[in-house]
Amino acid sequence: MKIVSISGSLRNKSYNKMALSYMSKGAQEADAEVEILDLKELAIPVYDGDIEDAGFPESANTFRQKLKDADGIIICTPEYNHSMPGGLKNAIDWASRGPAAPFKNKYIALAGCSTGLAGTIRSQLALLPTFRALGGIVISTPVYISFAQNVFDADGKITDHTIETRLMGLGKELVEKVKAQKG
Ligand code: FNR
Repeated sequence: MKIVSISGSLRNKSYNKMALSYMSKGAQEADAEVEILDLKELAIPVYDGDIEDAGFPESANTFRQKLKDADGIIICTPEYNHSMPGGLKNAIDWASRGPAAPFKNKYIALAGCSTGLAGTIRSQLALLPTFRALGGIVISTPVYISFAQNVFDADGKITDHTIETRLMGLGKELVEKVKAQKG
């Protein structure tokens, strides 16, 4: 089983990248093959219909194809100004183009870290109508991590066992749901 993991934050020392690695580990421990799709490395251009008409960008095509080939999706994202990061939405918008429908009927495990109190609740809620539009199935046990600066140590390790268990558990739950879906 193939799972792809995506961080909504691009920065190298991102708390969301750190949390994503725990979710990915949970999925791996449940026997899935996990690939992290790094939006920083992909450097997908801002969506522009003229660019699309001139030839689908390689980076956007790679992102869309990896999603298409995946059986399930893990996303860990910050909240930017009470919504999802523009870079994440942009990547999703590119992936939604054409007949590939890479999110359709696919389970999505959603979590997020913020340095504020709300722990990305609003960002995750903002993603729901997008995935509804694209036919994705967001698992109803999200993880919201507030005050992330107090949750990770300098090496990116989680200092709170409950949060670690919840993140890894969500990765595992995704794999179990996909297994059940595939019969
Ligand atoms: C933020 N941050 C933030 N936090 C929050 O709880 N609610 C918000 O609306 C916002 N808005 C916001 C906008 C922008 C443009 C930035 C850059 C940041 C703070 C955010 O939670 C913090 O920077 C996290 O550390 C971002 O996640 P990563 O990069 O550590 O994964």
